[in-house]
Amino acid sequence: MTTTATAAYWEPLWAGGRRYRQLDRPENRLMDEHLGPGRGRPALDIGCGDGALARHLHHELGYRTTGIDISPSAVALAAAHDEGPTPGPAWRCVDITTSDLTDLPEPAYAVITCRLVYRWMEDKTAFLNRVRHLLVPGGTFWVVTEIAGRREDTDPLRGLGIRPAEVETLTSGWSAVQAADLDVLRCYALHP
Ligand SMILES: C[S@@+](CC[C@H](N)C(=O)[O-])C[C@H]1O[C@@H](n2cnc3c(N)ncnc32)[C@H](O)[C@@H]1O
Repeated sequence: MTTTATAAYWEPLWAGGRRYRQLDRPENRLMDEHLGPGRGRPALDIGCGDGALARHLHHELGYRTTGIDISPSAVALAAAHDEGPTPGPAWRCVDITTSDLTDLPEPAYAVITCRLVYRWMEDKTAFLNRVRHLLVPGGTFWVVTEIAGRREDTDPLRGLGIRPAEVETLTSGWSAVQAADLDVLRCYALHP
């Protein structure tokens, strides 16, 4: 069986030209408000896809950013954007669920982001435990996810939303949880 947090699932999609919802100004504005200026601190974008969010963290907010994805085609696409004079984010092909995280460029991150990714993690508790190990005290975990029930019953994409039990798993055990809604999306800023 093909599971949804594996390269076997994602690589053919990226290699075949599949793309996902683009970042827009309202989402970027929310992210900027919650994360603040990076001032060279390390940030990690998990499931970076084509790298748009990681580039925003790196070039606009000033984080020293690493983007990781399980799909080699996604990582290649992300790296292909780095042509300007300023060095871009570091890109790595990493499975967040199984890879040795000590191989990442930094031992811990001030900001970890994860956009349209949590939905696909099969063992969400294990995934969140790995994220917690990578966050510095006082750091921020920024999660963007669809919420169930926001699309019409007839919408073929209605299964993309996470259900209340998955929201509970995501938001439990943090010292502070902030949430902001954007149409079908909810953005969470989670603090250890
Ligand atoms: C819906 S896409 C979102 C991509 C990007 N974050 C965006 O917002 O456009 C989900 C991404 O998660 C990545 N992914 C899925 N499972 C993963 C895993 N176990 N480790 C790392 N990345 C993973 C996929 O390859 C894919 O790029």
